[in-house]
Amino acid sequence: MKALVLCGGSGTRLRPITHTTAKQLVPVANKPVLYYGLEAIAEAGITDVGIVVGETSREIKQAVEDGNRWGLNVSYIFQDKPLGLAHAVLVSEEYIAGDEFVMYLGDNLIRDGIKACVDQYRENRPNCQILLAHVPEPQRFGVAELEGGKVVRLVEKPDVPPSDLALVGVYMFDGSIMDAVKAIKPSGRGELEITDAIQWLIDQGFTVDPHVIDGWWKDTGRLEDMLEANRIMLEDVEPSSHGHVDSASDVVGRVVVEKGAEVIGSTIRGPAVIGEGTKIINSFIGPYTAIYYGVTISGSEIEHSIILENSTVTDIPGRIEDSLIGQNVEVARSPLKPAAFRLMLGDNSRVGLL
Ligand code: DAU
Repeated sequence: MKALVLCGGSGTRLRPITHTTAKQLVPVANKPVLYYGLEAIAEAGITDVGIVVGETSREIKQAVEDGNRWGLNVSYIFQDKPLGLAHAVLVSEEYIAGDEFVMYLGDNLIRDGIKACVDQYRENRPNCQILLAHVPEPQRFGVAELEGGKVVRLVEKPDVPPSDLALVGVYMFDGSIMDAVKAIKPSGRGELEITDAIQWLIDQGFTVDPHVIDGWWKDTGRLEDMLEANRIMLEDVEPSSHGHVDSASDVVGRVVVEKGAEVIGSTIRGPAVIGEGTKIINSFIGPYTAIYYGVTISGSEIEHSIILENSTVTDIPGRIEDSLIGQNVEVARSPLKPAAFRLMLGDNSRVGLL
């Protein structure tokens, strides 16, 4: 069995962060979302992984390389335009070569991994197995309708959802899916939808089994989803310190201080992660905060936030909360007169001032 991991597409909902970073590489608890998926695939006993890449291929390749770190054998498949999830399957035909495979959407995070559902698929050998989860806003996802435990209908982002069962971004297929992706036509949004391809399988009488998960799952497409994912994953970190915490600092709860990080005259209240080479000086880092590598925070308070690499936050008078700060960002008080807010914000930025 192989795995196909989808990392093409563009992350419009996470802009401006995804103007410069692939959305699958935005870190959750200081680890790119995609790495959790690769770990889950390795844990399920799959080693051959094809990663579908598009305009961010350079970054994805740099981050994953040959997959050896996870014991995986990774190949890259280029999709020149994000024409849909079923299109990604179509361009992977040669790689899949008629084998069974798990398709994993690179921006999905499943806390309990995929071993249980891969095992179920291997045991029952349906033509397709889909993962489903009960969600409060099904209209944001593909939605399944079940009858007597069987999947009877799938619809992509319906205005009026037939149920609260969303399609999680993990699917298992045998060779029949290639006929399906060739048979369907682009949807109203111009994409070849995997949902339509699976509906085609159902209509042709192939077996499509549901696997409803009750563990935590997130499609990390939006800021609030990233913050929630960060919160959930930070709950599980093992406290450790590989950096330097001075005697004037107070570190409490689940806190990871990574290699080369320095905590000077500061309070860190976990769960929190302080990235490699990051400096926290005379500051408060509150619960549910992940600070990536090479960051400097001084004279400031930050809680329930994600700060990406090489940014600086200096002498901010109010507490920063519920925030996602991108790479190489500077947030500081302006010493210039007249006293004024001086901003240089990228397209689609959002700022909340007091
Ligand atoms: O997250 C679960 C949802 O994922 C399902 O409930 C939906 O049925 C399914 O269509 C999908 O919806 P999204 O609108 O969230 O898909 P998105 O465009 O975000 O793409 C998901 C991943 O696949 C993402 O990592 C980018 C990648 N991708 C996407 C497209 C459209 C590709 O590699 N190639 C593509 O052509």
